[in-house]
Amino acid sequence: MKVLEVSDLSAGYGDVEILKSINLYVNEGEIVAIFGSNGSGKSTFLKVVAGLLKPWGGTIKFYDHNIEELPPQERVKRGIALAAEGRQLFLGMSVEENLLMGGWLRRKEIKDNLEKVYSYFPQLREKRKTLAGDLSGGQQQMLSIGRALMAKPKLLMIDELSLGLAPAVVDRLAEVLKSIRDKEGISILLVEQEVSLALDISERSYVFDLGEIVEEGPSPELKRRDSIRKTYLSVG
Ligand SMILES: Nc1ncnc2c1ncn2[C@@H]1O[C@H](COP(=O)(O)OP(=O)(O)OP(=O)(O)O)[C@@H](O)[C@H]1O
Ligand SMILES: [Mg+2]
Repeated sequence: MKVLEVSDLSAGYGDVEILKSINLYVNEGEIVAIFGSNGSGKSTFLKVVAGLLKPWGGTIKFYDHNIEELPPQERVKRGIALAAEGRQLFLGMSVEENLLMGGWLRRKEIKDNLEKVYSYFPQLREKRKTLAGDLSGGQQQMLSIGRALMAKPKLLMIDELSLGLAPAVVDRLAEVLKSIRDKEGISILLVEQEVSLALDISERSYVFDLGEIVEEGPSPELKRRDSIRKTYLSVG
């Protein structure tokens, strides 16, 4: 079952086209990675799927329903959540207040969801009264992901998982994401600069370049592909 199916999608800013005919899908329970050079349109793509930027053309299907006309909060209700680049936290608010903001569309389940987020990220429970601005980079990333999870998504999108974080923190985050996928059965679409991490954490990957998909396939296979090794893993 496809959770997300994007076909022939184009989008841009002003009259500058950035994304050109993107075709990408995510299966239920799958972790899919997007990587590629700076400015290749990865964040723009997640914004279009989240409804923060209107597509110029093409379709976006979520569980077989077209959603490209829906406003962002309607997409959140249907189960699409984005942990955005730069984390977009409310730095002057506490950890728990930030999490509660992420759960406002699912108020009835807010306590259960909060418990669940704390069970995946015990550090957030310990720091629940701490201001988001006083957290470490790794804790802020946990908070950003935790806030997205408060919307109880079926598709969790994360922009720049590892940016600015120590390798040990990233490993821990990757473990948690896999267990969230396994236990909650949600799908994850992540943008990741660190190509070897992107390939290790995901089942399939897409490579963006200048707003187009230039390579795609099962991640273990991409890892062995010469073009990927030469361009993105600087070996061989
Ligand atoms: N709000 C905006 N207005 C105008 N142009 C933008 C805007 N946001 C991004 N762009 C341009 O769109 C292109 C794609 O940017 P985008 O942020 O999607 O790339 P990216 O692949 O996420 O890059 P990075 O790896 O640096 O995060 C870039 O040329 C960028 O300058
Ligand atoms: Mg980006």
